[in-house]
Amino acid sequence: MQLDRYDQALLDGEYGETKQKMMEILVSLGKIYDAERLIEVKNVQVSGASFKTIGDAGLEWLNSLSGKAVVPSFLNPIGMPREGWESLGISQEFGKKQLEVNAAYTRLGIRPSCTCTPYYFTLVERGDHLAWSESSAVVYANSVLGARTNREGGPSALASALTGKTPEYGLHIVKNRLPEIEFRLADPEVAKTWTQAEYGALGIIAGAISGNKIPLFRGIRPKADMLKSMGAAMAASGAVALFHVEDITPEARFPFFKKHFEEDEREVITIETEEIKELFSELEPEAVAVGCPHLSREELAELADLLEGRTVKMPFYVFAAAEMKGSCADAVFRIQKSGARVIPNTCMIVSPLFEKRGCVMTNSGKAFTYLPGMCDTVPRLGSLEDCVRVACGE
Ligand code: F3S
Repeated sequence: MQLDRYDQALLDGEYGETKQKMMEILVSLGKIYDAERLIEVKNVQVSGASFKTIGDAGLEWLNSLSGKAVVPSFLNPIGMPREGWESLGISQEFGKKQLEVNAAYTRLGIRPSCTCTPYYFTLVERGDHLAWSESSAVVYANSVLGARTNREGGPSALASALTGKTPEYGLHIVKNRLPEIEFRLADPEVAKTWTQAEYGALGIIAGAISGNKIPLFRGIRPKADMLKSMGAAMAASGAVALFHVEDITPEARFPFFKKHFEEDEREVITIETEEIKELFSELEPEAVAVGCPHLSREELAELADLLEGRTVKMPFYVFAAAEMKGSCADAVFRIQKSGARVIPNTCMIVSPLFEKRGCVMTNSGKAFTYLPGMCDTVPRLGSLEDCVRVACGE
């Protein structure tokens, strides 16, 4: 691997022991994947932020590190809101450990943005090289924004934050971004009526079939929030880090990609409408949780409209980034007037709040996939409108 003078100085320990360790991680990764060199990243998103997922071992590792991030670096959701967590029933023991995790990342210069949607708050452009580790953010950055990032682990993303570099392999290289499997719907007309929940269901099915292949979808026209939902589900049921939607996603509109879409041979899978419907049920939930990935401005506004004049009859949790909550005060006020709670910094999966909750209803394909394994909770999938209707006992 070719290292420039800065890389070599880091590797030789000239910038301290932590940065030396971080450079060792990146060089090892580069060697495994045959990278020729390290490239600069514009920004970094670091997962492994909830004490629930990293535990004492992760906290100990973070506390052993020193130094500061050299590029803008954003933290994934943590296990509780940064403020007012006691009122939600988070234990003192968990809260104390989580605060230690937060302090460790802040000391390392990672911004405590605590969101899986950093793309709402920082400019990401087509072709930008990033090192992101939250899988739903990775797939959004690559597919919807046309930026380039591999699916980093928490340690390798942190290594990129502290050095500003990542090995150039995988999705950083254009020829590796071509589709490898294709999906079509048996009845494309039906997709015109789909909400994010159906796109999440499509993501669950397509992700499980794709594994870590790059899918191409034809015949659907999802909007940005639907693409977000679909990608997050594919990254959860499979390991999809990039997908294309014909005529919709940015790279799909480029002649180079279009040519390959038409000329390359690949497996074509047809998904029946029944397969999507089978993921929806009529189970009785004891709580509703939306905001996986964290809600956009448009989603908050839609939810506020749906809840207008209604009162929720069961716990209704809404997850969004703190910055989003702050900048959508009117929608948040209207949502909370119904009795629903808008909670920043965390989510239904990485917080201990949802463990063993019986049945939880969500409009998210990713949460639907993770609730059983991560929270020992039975999920029910439904549209945002259905979540509101059920929560209000209608
Ligand atoms: Fe984000 Fe939590 Fe879902 S981190 S993508 S809201 S599992």
